Amino acid sequence: MSTILITGANRGLGLGLVEEYAKDGWKIIATSRNPNNSDELLELANKNENNIEILQLDVEDLKSISDLSQVLQNTPIDVLANVAGYYGKKIVSEPGGLQEFGSTDYEDWQRIIKVNIFGPMKICETLINNIELGNDKKIITLSSIIGSIGGNDQGMMYAYRVSKAGVNAIMRSMAIDLKDKGIICIPLHPGWVRTDMGGPNADIDTKTSVEGMKRVIDSLSIKDSGRYMVYDGSELPW
Ligand SMILES: NC(=O)c1ccc[n+]([C@@H]2O[C@H](COP(=O)([O-])OP(=O)(O)OC[C@H]3O[C@@H](n4cnc5c(N)ncnc54)[C@H](OP(=O)(O)O)[C@@H]3O)[C@@H](O)[C@H]2O)c1
Repeated sequence: MSTILITGANRGLGLGLVEEYAKDGWKIIATSRNPNNSDELLELANKNENNIEILQLDVEDLKSISDLSQVLQNTPIDVLANVAGYYGKKIVSEPGGLQEFGSTDYEDWQRIIKVNIFGPMKICETLINNIELGNDKKIITLSSIIGSIGGNDQGMMYAYRVSKAGVNAIMRSMAIDLKDKGIICIPLHPGWVRTDMGGPNADIDTKTSVEGMKRVIDSLSIKDSGRYMVYDGSELPW
């Protein structure tokens, strides 16, 4: 049985991926900041008794990530999916949500960097032995089209944009550095999706996004490592 570890698994795209991989019979290590408050995830775990293990993880807290490696000693992980992410204030409904020039909230920006850049980097460094023990050897980090520098024709969203461009750079470097170990690394754009983060006016529903992402992840081989991919199989400019 193949194993996937999914961060931010209690809601949105993380929860959607748990559901999608559970349907396909995978073993899932689902992490959440607050497992006791993760009702939908707990319900899914009850339905899939032996296949979903829930672990506590705050990706903003480097110690919480180190502690995870103690719990997961020698557990093979076929796919690591860094899904947990933070945009900042709500894009439409909160003042400053568009992160316009002149309205930068530097404190919030630090949190965005911690969650979206330090978190995935530290998780990859911490769990690299588990990934080497897996058969598939795939590391996926949910990025965003907003992280594309070449594709930026809208401006704004400084803090979130930088965090996703930053994690793209990390995934590209990891693809080079881990190639000899046969490890595949990609940043993956899930589409603009109707979750808490994407909002109600987004293009697609969670099901469309997670089904597409799973198809992309299933199809990856080492020649794809370092590509900046989209849930529908297309590719983005850096
Ligand atoms: N939705 C979109 O349109 C869209 C587009 C492009 C990229 N993305 C990316 O896709 C990923 C998932 O987005 P989403 O739409 O599912 O967002 P979401 O609905 O806002 O969910 C965010 C998830 O991240 C978790 N999280 C946030 N901070 C965390 C922390 N410090 N430690 C652990 N977990 C934390 C949340 O947990 P809590 O419940 O504990 O807060 C939640 O599970 C993100 O990386 C996002 O940037 C989304």
